[in-house]
Amino acid sequence: MTSAALPDLAGRLHPALVHLPIGFLLLLALTEIAGWLRPALRPPPPLRTFALAAGLAAALAAAACGWLLGRSGEHEAALLDRHRWAGVACTALTAALLVLRHRPVPYALTFTACLVTLGVAGHLGGTLTHGEGYLWRAAAPAVRPVVASAADARVFEDVIHPLLRQRCIACHGPAKSNGGLRYDTAEAVLRGGKSGPLLPPGQPAASLMLRRLQLPLEAKEHMPPKGRPQPTAAELELLEWWLHAGAPVRGQLADHAAPPAILATVTARLDLPAAAAPDRAALLSLARELEARLGIVLRPLAQDGPWLEANARLRGPRFTDEHLRALAPVAAGIARLDLGGTAVTDAGLATLRAMTSLQRLHLDQTAVTAAGVNQLSGLSRLETLNLVGTTVGDEALPALGRLPGLRTLYAWNTRLSEPALAKLARGRQEAPRLQQLRRELADAEARLQAETFTVHRGAEAGASPPVSPPDPP
Ligand code: HEC
Repeated sequence: MTSAALPDLAGRLHPALVHLPIGFLLLLALTEIAGWLRPALRPPPPLRTFALAAGLAAALAAAACGWLLGRSGEHEAALLDRHRWAGVACTALTAALLVLRHRPVPYALTFTACLVTLGVAGHLGGTLTHGEGYLWRAAAPAVRPVVASAADARVFEDVIHPLLRQRCIACHGPAKSNGGLRYDTAEAVLRGGKSGPLLPPGQPAASLMLRRLQLPLEAKEHMPPKGRPQPTAAELELLEWWLHAGAPVRGQLADHAAPPAILATVTARLDLPAAAAPDRAALLSLARELEARLGIVLRPLAQDGPWLEANARLRGPRFTDEHLRALAPVAAGIARLDLGGTAVTDAGLATLRAMTSLQRLHLDQTAVTAAGVNQLSGLSRLETLNLVGTTVGDEALPALGRLPGLRTLYAWNTRLSEPALAKLARGRQEAPRLQQLRRELADAEARLQAETFTVHRGAEAGASPPVSPPDPP
């Protein structure tokens, strides 16, 4: 062991040593109370002196070790300060007891004060090691009713916190808080570590947690450190989604418009039954009836599978909000909807909220505006949106940005400006998931390069094609 490690070791003795003065003082206090009730039990003065002296010596030793432990910087500073001064006060009061031991009234008063500071110091110490609210935590029910579906899962308690507990808490929790970072409560997670809060105000994407998770495994700052169990790709995706959603700690996944990929991951992690697809036979008979009544095309998308394609374009202006509302009974099964050139308006698009399977939506040549686009915000599977020839303008940008599945937007002949569209596209390109994939691609290319065998015959450097290794027999 190096001499530098000695103070470390002494520091770690603190949690064990503190129990010595507690034992001495409590036993003495109990015998004093007993002696007060039955004089025969009163401790003889030399025993009292001995107990106080031993208590003081133990308190001094514990305080010294505590001081060394406090220097490690692994504890929350304000709390540590309070714990430290309560400990010092308790030690000082023990010394005072030794001085006052022959004067009954000051002795009794000082003893009371000493026991109170002991309780306070002990509680603050417990909070330092086990986290805020540790006292009551055990009393709360450990299990709660199982959720019916991933959408009902609580975003922090059921999804994010178990992940942080599994992968990070050994080094960022009650036992150790490396970098001043603790993940044992929601408040602590948001507070962050010595480099600042989890999400720097105004720039959620600049989360240090995300950056460190995404660094190459070899990087010194990569989290969790190399050699430790690493989060899986699906777990990383969960954390990325959560941080980009602004790190919510309240509400359920549905409240934060979690996209299908996230719901699927959570379904698997929580071992929930997969969401039931709509019943095909019932849906198709309803669809046939509606098709005849509304004069639109309403057909299954594939031979099997319950998904429908609805096309109202042929009805043109004769198809109104009211007709759209008539589709409500089959809403859950509609995956493609063409309302191009119809008379639907922003108000009518409220019906679309129930079309949670919608992947393609055509609203071209309609009176829909940004207010209508706002109604689409829960459509997490929507991949293609056609707004050609509408008056939708830049005010729709936030709503468009909130469509997590959107891959293609047709915006010709709208009031969406070039710069706004460029900004939207840029936001998408910079999504951490994409960046991660690009990094992986670059890594794979570098590896491929490193393993490729090349022969140069001398004439023109780099002109000959690489020679591949022969196929194995
Ligand atoms: C084996 C221990 C260990 C594990 C497991 C671990 N970390 Fe760390 N972490 C450290 C150490 C040590 C530091 C402080 C040194 C440093 O900044 O690199 C640190 C620092 C950090 C910091 C910087 C804190 C700040 O404010 O400067 C972040 C963020 C972080 N870790 C995130 C995580 C996340 C997220 C996980 C789980 C996915 C995790 N860590 C798991 C050891 C660990």
